[in-house]
Amino acid sequence: MSPARRAAFDVLRLVDGGGYASDLLRSRTEELAKRDAGLASELVFGALRFQAQLDHLIERFSGRSAAKLDREVRIILRMGIYQLRYLTRIPAHAVVSESVDLVKRAHKRSASTMVNAVLRKVDKRPVPWPDRATELSQPEWLLENWTRQFGAEGAAGIARAFLKPPEKYVRVPPGRESEAEQLALEPTDVPGCYRVTRRAAPRGFRQQDISSQAVGLLVEPEAGQSFLDLCAAPGNKTAQALESGVRAVAADINLDRLGELQDVDAALAALDATQPLPFQARFDRILLDAPCSGTGTLGRNPEIKWRIQPSDLAGHQARQIRMLRNAIAALAPGGRLVYSTCSLEYEENQAVVEEALADAPEEVRLELMIQRVPGVDPGDGFFAAVITSN
Ligand SMILES: C[S@@+](CC[C@H](N)C(=O)[O-])C[C@H]1O[C@@H](n2cnc3c(N)ncnc32)[C@H](O)[C@@H]1O
Repeated sequence: MSPARRAAFDVLRLVDGGGYASDLLRSRTEELAKRDAGLASELVFGALRFQAQLDHLIERFSGRSAAKLDREVRIILRMGIYQLRYLTRIPAHAVVSESVDLVKRAHKRSASTMVNAVLRKVDKRPVPWPDRATELSQPEWLLENWTRQFGAEGAAGIARAFLKPPEKYVRVPPGRESEAEQLALEPTDVPGCYRVTRRAAPRGFRQQDISSQAVGLLVEPEAGQSFLDLCAAPGNKTAQALESGVRAVAADINLDRLGELQDVDAALAALDATQPLPFQARFDRILLDAPCSGTGTLGRNPEIKWRIQPSDLAGHQARQIRMLRNAIAALAPGGRLVYSTCSLEYEENQAVVEEALADAPEEVRLELMIQRVPGVDPGDGFFAAVITSN
């Protein structure tokens, strides 16, 4: 059996149990040849991005509801149909026989005849999708959320953007531009942000999405200022702020993730930003890049769209409001605070800012809010609000 299909199946099974596809792929394909690792990644992300379409096709070709099938058999059918209908250059006989082998390896031998028969029926004829959620392979409630903010066309544009593999970007600190040119990195309209034109990102530069870099620039740090990065790990935006020569404190609740900042010239602090902050002094610049639902990153983390529930947003929002109030209290007079999320949801963005500012001192004011929207702007979906204190 091809190591790529075996790895993809194992990863999809673990994702179904709550794991994250990109982390699992990294560890499970380490030992594989480049080509196999590439195919495993294509199968995992394809099956997750197009899951609603694939489940509709399972029903169409098998006559059974995908939801009622055994979990492992469902994953094998999703992978098989994805290869047969969405990829070119993979011979159908290899897909069918390897899918049957996967069924046996998963100890679901009794399903092998059904899997064989269903996959033999699959063709490439266009299929009418039953509704927009299936066509866009997106939960209806998220489409509704986006439609309220961006209109029906905007929501469809976002969902379509999330069906494509995301582009890769790196951060090129000032003075290293010639290295970037030698590596054929392409400059973008975000200063210091370069698009990766080859398959793999070059070593020696931090890989950081263009939207994340655009948000980092809003901090406008200046040499010698004090800077607090409240949710810092893995440290991309701390490193970006340090380019200007600020004195940085990088804080995070997660000690393991804070360890990823060892190469960054910042004081590290393990803290829970929902609790009153432990600092005596106030800060000239603060970034609160808050933990969120991550719905702006569904292109790179497609499993999130099938996992997140509408009720989750309230929990994120309550934590974000507490963090933002604490951040505002730590802002020095004349200071500048950026609140950001990689969520597209109003509840985690504008609503949080409005609620936290409602009881802020009167010298604190909202300067601007920006939103980067997939399908309109390159990169992940991101929100940022700039808050200043006089
Ligand atoms: C969106 S990520 C930050 C990404 C980072 N700013 C960057 O650009 O590399 C959010 C971070 O918040 C941290 N976090 C979650 N809950 C927290 C809390 N209560 N207090 C402090 N940090 C928290 C997570 O561990 C995670 O590292």
